[in-house]
Amino acid sequence: MTGTPAWRQSFVILFAVGLASCDRQAASGSPASPEAAPPPTASVHEIMTARIVPATNALWEAAAGTDVTDAKWIELRGQADKVVEAANLLMLDGLNVVAPGQTLTDENSQGGLSATDMQAHLDAHHQQFAQMSGQLRDAGQQMLRAVEAKNMEALQSGGDALYTTCESCHQAFWYPNQKSAGGTQ
Ligand code: HEC
Repeated sequence: MTGTPAWRQSFVILFAVGLASCDRQAASGSPASPEAAPPPTASVHEIMTARIVPATNALWEAAAGTDVTDAKWIELRGQADKVVEAANLLMLDGLNVVAPGQTLTDENSQGGLSATDMQAHLDAHHQQFAQMSGQLRDAGQQMLRAVEAKNMEALQSGGDALYTTCESCHQAFWYPNQKSAGGTQ
């Protein structure tokens, strides 16, 4: 066991300090209740790009293939765990859409909302967002069971269920102004 390299530690500290200085969570209280307050680095954007996308890509890729080795099943277990954990983070109160001061790269394109409008919409409909995050968690748990059973068919149907949860939340919270054919409710 080697410790965390020094460069990495200082990066983490600098990053945390940078965020804390303008984070609305940090201003308002003690870190005593981790369930109630999201970690300072978590934003919807970060959860999507850094956690959900890599984990679900690995799962979908495996589901589209034919042969999964034992070593791969173990890795996939970790990926399914990540989806469940990411869904838990999405359910937290006071989650920012993006880190303070940031904007979305594709703001207002294709009927998508700006980060500011998205934040207002999320804050006003937090319960619906949490419920949709719960559907993501359920689908993640379905994947977890498929992986534990090493069952390809279950991995494929779980993968489809997973995809449906992405679509319905994106439709509601990311590009609600885009009226696509067969929109989900
Ligand atoms: C509970 C709601 C919710 C669920 C479920 C959800 N997302 Fe998202 N996602 C969002 C919101 C809101 C945005 C827009 C903000 C942003 O771009 O980060 C987004 C944005 C994204 C982006 C764009 C990130 C970028 O570069 O701007 C990707 C990719 C993404 N989600 C992937 C997924 C995948 C894959 C799933 C399903 C496995 C999923 N999301 C499930 C709410 C959700």
